[in-house]
Amino acid sequence: MRLDRFLCNLPSLNRPQVQRLLAAGEVRVDAQVIRDGRHPVREFNRIEAAEQLLQAGKPARYFMLHKPPGYVSATQHPEHPTVLELLDEPDKDELHLAGRLDLNTSGLLLISNDGLWSRRVTQPTSLLAKVYLVETELPIGPEYAQAFARGLYFQYEDLTTLPAELELIDSHSARLSLHEGRYHQVKRMFGHFQNKVIRLHRERIAGLPLDPQLAPGQYRALTFAEIALF
Ligand code: URA
Repeated sequence: MRLDRFLCNLPSLNRPQVQRLLAAGEVRVDAQVIRDGRHPVREFNRIEAAEQLLQAGKPARYFMLHKPPGYVSATQHPEHPTVLELLDEPDKDELHLAGRLDLNTSGLLLISNDGLWSRRVTQPTSLLAKVYLVETELPIGPEYAQAFARGLYFQYEDLTTLPAELELIDSHSARLSLHEGRYHQVKRMFGHFQNKVIRLHRERIAGLPLDPQLAPGQYRALTFAEIALF
């Protein structure tokens, strides 16, 4: 939201007062004087005018979790424990998941209270690489890599998957990089060859790898540099 709109929305201020405060250098956002009413503000900013605190600003929070299998990527579930139960944090109802993993998939999951940031992580147009380690029931054939690079037709959605890169590790395991996140995508791509995925683990999202120090079920806050990747 624009700073001038935020100020005008307060019952105590009208438009001429807001213009006067801004012009007089009486408005501070995160301790900086801001005179431009178009300056963007969010719930995370501390906003003061004429020495009065108008909004304290809550901390923006960003976490990476090593999701273990058996936890559901949702904030509530009637049957399974949720990934949020693994977090020992206050005000968990303000947190949401920036992307999902299936119940039995493990690996990197991002959690935040910053919806704009999460949208940048998850929006399809960003084409961020999501890298998975895949283990399969049957050997992975040489024809898979070409088919994945060309794209596979998904009848249900009537679409062709974006080119994906497959790197074989051994006969039954591979690393797969996707640039989108369709429902059960990895399983359905291997399903095209009637080959069942028996283990699936997300190693990385774009330039952010899962921290190898995190055991399954553990999490940590992201660093500033990691937050700035998105
Ligand atoms: N593709 C899947 O099939 N499952 C996941 O959890 C992620 C990608």
